[in-house]
Amino acid sequence: MKKNFIWGTATSAHQIEGAWLEDGKGMNIWDAFSHTPGKIANEDHSEVACDHYHLYETDIAHMKDLGVNGYRFSIAWSRVIPDGKGKVNPQGIDFYNRLIDSLLAAGITPFITLYHWDLPLTLQMEHDGWLSEVTADAFARYAQICFEAFGDRVTNWITFNENWCTAVIGNGQGHFAPGRISDDEPYIVAHNLLLAHGKAVQNFRQGDFPGQIGIANNCDWREPYTDSPEDKAAAQEALEFFFGWFTDPVIFGDYPAIMRERLGDRLPHFTPEQSEMLKGSSDFLGLNHYTTHYASREPIAPDQMKADVGNGGDQDDQQVYLHHDPDWPRTSMGWFVVPWGFRKLLNWIKEHYGDIPIFVTENGCSVAADNKEDAVNDQFRADFVEGYTQALTQAVEEDGVNVKGYFCWTLMDNFEWTRGYNMRFGLIYCDFETQERTPKASFHHYAEIIQRHRSGGTED
Ligand code: BGC
Repeated sequence: MKKNFIWGTATSAHQIEGAWLEDGKGMNIWDAFSHTPGKIANEDHSEVACDHYHLYETDIAHMKDLGVNGYRFSIAWSRVIPDGKGKVNPQGIDFYNRLIDSLLAAGITPFITLYHWDLPLTLQMEHDGWLSEVTADAFARYAQICFEAFGDRVTNWITFNENWCTAVIGNGQGHFAPGRISDDEPYIVAHNLLLAHGKAVQNFRQGDFPGQIGIANNCDWREPYTDSPEDKAAAQEALEFFFGWFTDPVIFGDYPAIMRERLGDRLPHFTPEQSEMLKGSSDFLGLNHYTTHYASREPIAPDQMKADVGNGGDQDDQQVYLHHDPDWPRTSMGWFVVPWGFRKLLNWIKEHYGDIPIFVTENGCSVAADNKEDAVNDQFRADFVEGYTQALTQAVEEDGVNVKGYFCWTLMDNFEWTRGYNMRFGLIYCDFETQERTPKASFHHYAEIIQRHRSGGTED
């Protein structure tokens, strides 16, 4: 790997910051959702979470020990603009200034995500959130405010994290905030998210801010279940409904043809101007990758549901059935560990979108543990990171995929959305009572991986 490869770690504001109403922060849709009884495991919420708002210096010291040269975090929109569209909160700006300055002092390059699911609640209440283009315009203004406040020191920007989750899980299945259930709204929400991305990138480019800007989309790998043309087509289409839905527009300016074919006018249309704005609007592609499934056109069991384990796009709109190999190891989230699927996906992205730089903006796993000692001895995660970074290295060195960085999810155990604090994804153990942090075995293993690559690294 190149010496300047970014070996990093990632977090998001709502999952770690806490200080939910401190120093002028406004409420966001996850604050409301997680204070609604029955929505989150154990009725957990993130009022305090990892208290990173106060402990960020400690967390940066851990990152220094880990040896990362990049850190991906998100800005809480409602900390910067409490109602999402009105007055700027100077204390919010100050916090991110302190965080950025401390990172730079530690030699760690900041990668900022502008939106990691925590929409200011007012925008949901007054405008139905991402169902309205008003929210897209508010986002573009918020992005502009961030570029102006931090763009003198931050040169790596990600507009959105996993729009697929916002659209499908938040506005289709209702499992995530804002908790809406609908077959059609995910496509409208997705459309407005994409327009918001395009508008923000336009601001970035017109403002001549230094650096690069892109989007982080999630995708699992879909391997054809058999060699039949039907199963091969099913796997391809599943990838297009998943990654293509949010990536084709920012590269080519429109949705994948298969989506238009299946959905007709249920899929909104971009005007020629919007399409022009979106085309080429990502300097790089961010990829969040967690697992793999086999895909087939027909069910392999008589009562099999189309996608009982989550699928890209609205499930009934795809003729795709998903399966797994019973021998694949499984994380405590129930996700399969299949490093070769990661390598194949990276190659698929290269074939589809050319040589555009890729950052793996998330990859990691949850490991169950009954107590701290077990949690810290996380050989499972160390093996996971070893396997996935090996697959990554093969994709780069043997297959020539243009990957520029890898961010392990996540720095420390945190608020895992509807799963609350039960699902631990961290390289660092977090005691949520005392806020004590303890690096796990996987932390030390990832540090070794980074050192190994750095010492054997080639010049750019
Ligand atoms: C999200 C993270 C989340 C992780 C594990 C990704 O979908 O971006 O916020 O914690 O997966 O579920």
